[in-house]
Amino acid sequence: MEPREIQYVQQSFAGVFARKADLAERFYVHLFTRLPAARAMFRGNFVKQKMMLTAMIASCVRNLDDPRRLEEIGTRLSREHAHLDLGPRETEAAKRALIAALRDVLGDELDPATEFAWASAISRVAGAMPRH
Ligand code: HEM
Repeated sequence: MEPREIQYVQQSFAGVFARKADLAERFYVHLFTRLPAARAMFRGNFVKQKMMLTAMIASCVRNLDDPRRLEEIGTRLSREHAHLDLGPRETEAAKRALIAALRDVLGDELDPATEFAWASAISRVAGAMPRH
């Protein structure tokens, strides 16, 4: 990723951070709209789940300029989802859900360049997610 793109993602995430609970809420609304079957996969405490999601996003955003660390995070994420047997369809749905959630929370602040930078950041991390 270009340093400029990393900056777009980090700056916009700083703006979203105070509203990270909204971001997580909107992410799951969009994910379950795209993949209704995914709802039943979640068995744990959903409040905690939302916190884990935003902590994971924060950790990716913080490490965008460190490809090795980012790969480690992607591998961990992949391992944590291994038992779910997810494929490219689910990964794509998650990417779209995250962009849609950012749009809900940031509104016009999510300009095209920032959205493009997020899409490329998500693809990098999701590259380590299952694709079978
Ligand atoms: C942007 C992509 C995604 C991120 C950042 C993400 C993040 C996370 C994190 C941090 C956890 C917690 C792992 C732990 O227990 O420590 C988790 C668990 C989980 N994720 Fe994801 N996830 C993503 C995509 C998906 C997708 C596409 C699905 C399903 C279609 C999914 C289903 C689940 C389920 C079912 C759990 C376990 C919940 C439970 O045991 O109740 N995730 N995810």
